[in-house]
Amino acid sequence: MGLLSKKATCNTHGQDSSYFLGWEEYEKNPYDEIKNPDGIIQMGLAENQLSFDLIESWLAKNPDAANFQRDGQSIFRELALFQDYHGLPSFKNAMADFMSENRGNRVSFDPNNLVLTAGATPANETLMFCLTNPGDAFLLPTPYYPGFDRDLKWRTGAEIVPIKCTSANGFRITKSALEEAYEEAQKLNLKVKGVLITNPSNPLGTTTTRTELNHLVDFISRKKIHLISDEIYSGTVFASPGFISVMEVLKDRRLENTDVFKRVHVVYSLSKDLGLPGFRVGVIYSNDDNVVSAATKMSSFGLISSQTQYLLSALLSDKKFTKNYLQENQIRLKNRHKKLVSGLEAAGIECLKSNAGLFCWVDMRHLLKSNTFEAEIELWKKIVYEVKLNISPGSSCHCNEPGWFRVCFANMSEETLEVALDRLKKFVDGPSSTARSQSEHQRLKNLRKKKVSNWVFRLSFHDREPEER
Ligand SMILES: Cc1ncc(COP(=O)(O)O)c(C=O)c1O
Repeated sequence: MGLLSKKATCNTHGQDSSYFLGWEEYEKNPYDEIKNPDGIIQMGLAENQLSFDLIESWLAKNPDAANFQRDGQSIFRELALFQDYHGLPSFKNAMADFMSENRGNRVSFDPNNLVLTAGATPANETLMFCLTNPGDAFLLPTPYYPGFDRDLKWRTGAEIVPIKCTSANGFRITKSALEEAYEEAQKLNLKVKGVLITNPSNPLGTTTTRTELNHLVDFISRKKIHLISDEIYSGTVFASPGFISVMEVLKDRRLENTDVFKRVHVVYSLSKDLGLPGFRVGVIYSNDDNVVSAATKMSSFGLISSQTQYLLSALLSDKKFTKNYLQENQIRLKNRHKKLVSGLEAAGIECLKSNAGLFCWVDMRHLLKSNTFEAEIELWKKIVYEVKLNISPGSSCHCNEPGWFRVCFANMSEETLEVALDRLKKFVDGPSSTARSQSEHQRLKNLRKKKVSNWVFRLSFHDREPEER
């Protein structure tokens, strides 16, 4: 151990969170309809497997793209050679156009402001390296994607301070929550460098409203800080209200060519909308040339292979395909979402009303033994080990109210989802059910606001060795 670096041995990676532990449990005993029907069903993975057939049929009709060929001639040597970190121009153009299409062409993206990265994970980290020094903070609305603890903090030394959103208003971002988070950071002697949102939200599955986006733009203008909008789920919006990108708000408010415009950065990736997390394709879009230049240099640590860029530039340039894909994928997501929501309803479980994403934010507060995070983890363990469903507890998303869970619906077949819903209903109805009576439910509701576990808001700062701070 002594020969390893502090970074290699520190425990701030977040691998010990219940989010990742659930995945490990699933790996040990994965469900298979034939080979392992009693195994764990993976509902903790935000993967989109609903529209693979559309991509597969495009590949079958366009064999050149995946076969290192152009007009039937091999371009293997061209693709195999060393590439610079600016990426293939044809791919950047196709990506910029696809991002505009995803936003109903209400805004356009300049390929010169795009930086290619191997997924949204390095895109977010690279932005942290560009915008923060170790110990500087970003404010994030809770609940948030558990991977951010790793992506934003681990290697950069940046901190996350929560913007505490609550179920009272559907977890919406308010002016006062933003101000409180800012003050909290100041009390902790942390310099706030920006706010990071996911729009649509992971784990809520909701799109950010224009009112929220306006609050955010006003806030970062006033405080002279940055705004990162991770829009990785922008193509998954399957019901109204439609998706509004922060870029659209800036345009509508005629803020282009202002200082605040330069402090807004968008992250995107093809991991969710196209269901290609294995291809590792992401981008940073920044309005600040200095950020574009620094991030481009940093991108050499995680480039997208030229083979992948070549294939996807052909796919994304096929406008007929992308239009049909986006529409059809949204219809499939909508149907799947409906199936999950109605199946949960049949088990007496409600969800936050949502219109996007690959998951629902599920309210199981009435199934808790007490209104505590300990009870949430107890229920989670039952669901993983007895019901054999891996879902993500809200505490892993830093939710400040116990009893919420993120449940994914697009990474499995419809039949598997039915098995999962059936298991859950039996658990809630069955003799071992921990479901509370109505009066107990009310008692819990009253208690709910009082208790918030401190560890949910723990900063990585507090986990570090004193000399590392
Ligand atoms: C909000 C958000 N950002 C980033 C990522 C990471 O995506 P990628 O696979 O492109 O690295 C995820 C993945 O779940 C996510 O939900």
